[in-house]
Amino acid sequence: MLDVRNVSRLFGTKAAVDRISFSVERTGFVGVIGRSGAGKSTFLRMMNRLTDASAGEIRFEGRDILALRGAEMRAWQSQCAMIFQQFNLVPRMDVVSNVLHGRLAHRATLPSIFGFWPDDDVLKALAILDRLGIAEQAAKRAEALSGGQQQRVAIARALMQDPKVILADEPIASLDPMNAQVVMDTLRRIHDEDNRLVIANLHTLDTARRYCDRVIGMRDGRIVFDGTPDQLTTGVARDIYGADASFSETATSTSIEALGTRGDDAYARELLA
Ligand SMILES: Nc1ncnc2c1ncn2[C@@H]1O[C@H](COP(=O)(O)OP(=O)(O)O)[C@@H](O)[C@H]1O
Ligand SMILES: [Mg+2]
Repeated sequence: MLDVRNVSRLFGTKAAVDRISFSVERTGFVGVIGRSGAGKSTFLRMMNRLTDASAGEIRFEGRDILALRGAEMRAWQSQCAMIFQQFNLVPRMDVVSNVLHGRLAHRATLPSIFGFWPDDDVLKALAILDRLGIAEQAAKRAEALSGGQQQRVAIARALMQDPKVILADEPIASLDPMNAQVVMDTLRRIHDEDNRLVIANLHTLDTARRYCDRVIGMRDGRIVFDGTPDQLTTGVARDIYGADASFSETATSTSIEALGTRGDDAYARELLA
């Protein structure tokens, strides 16, 4: 269903993504892990055509995704919904309107701006909110909700597009453990019940192990691991995260969180240098 062939993205002379290849036969829940700067976000952004690839080919159900232009590209972007770490909702707008914005690609923009949504769309939005357990929040402003609820609103907005693929870029990185679990359970359910392909960049090894059918490990723009969660041994993790990473045989979420943070610090220093 998805075929990624030798895809690269250069920024200047540096390859953020360096000739990556993998394919997904049937729908699945795929986790992408790796430290900060490994190229995870750049890859998702190329899939969604938010960033152009420098080379390579991405085929989805036979279509050449990187060659799409104009209306065809926008149609793909609506079949390939993005979930971001920071939710990207309109904070002062009510929840149901935020969800309805997922339909913008399908509707004339002008009536939507004035809040004239077809009844069918409103009912669909409410049904999705109900399914995700947040229907009672529908009339509240998005900013009044907890982080976990806001991320579920973002997922509801994505579902409004009826996407074939859901790309989630660190969907739980800003959430506490309890909300993180609710959001991951929600994404997993959407995969299991709707058969949508989910590709999620995840910052903890534990989450990848727990939720994914398949894990892709990236390092310096390359794929250094591609396998099942139980093949993700400590040795493999060291390969993915770098030799300077220290963690015990029984890797706990705490040790991996610490690792993630260290990666970010190094990344920040690099940016400030
Ligand atoms: N717009 C950009 N301009 C220049 N360099 C970028 C840009 N976006 C990402 N990069 C670089 O590409 C590399 C991969 O970044 P990214 O895909 O964000 O990694 P990750 O999501 O794994 O943290 C990093 O070295 C980053 O500095
Ligand atoms: Mg990223």
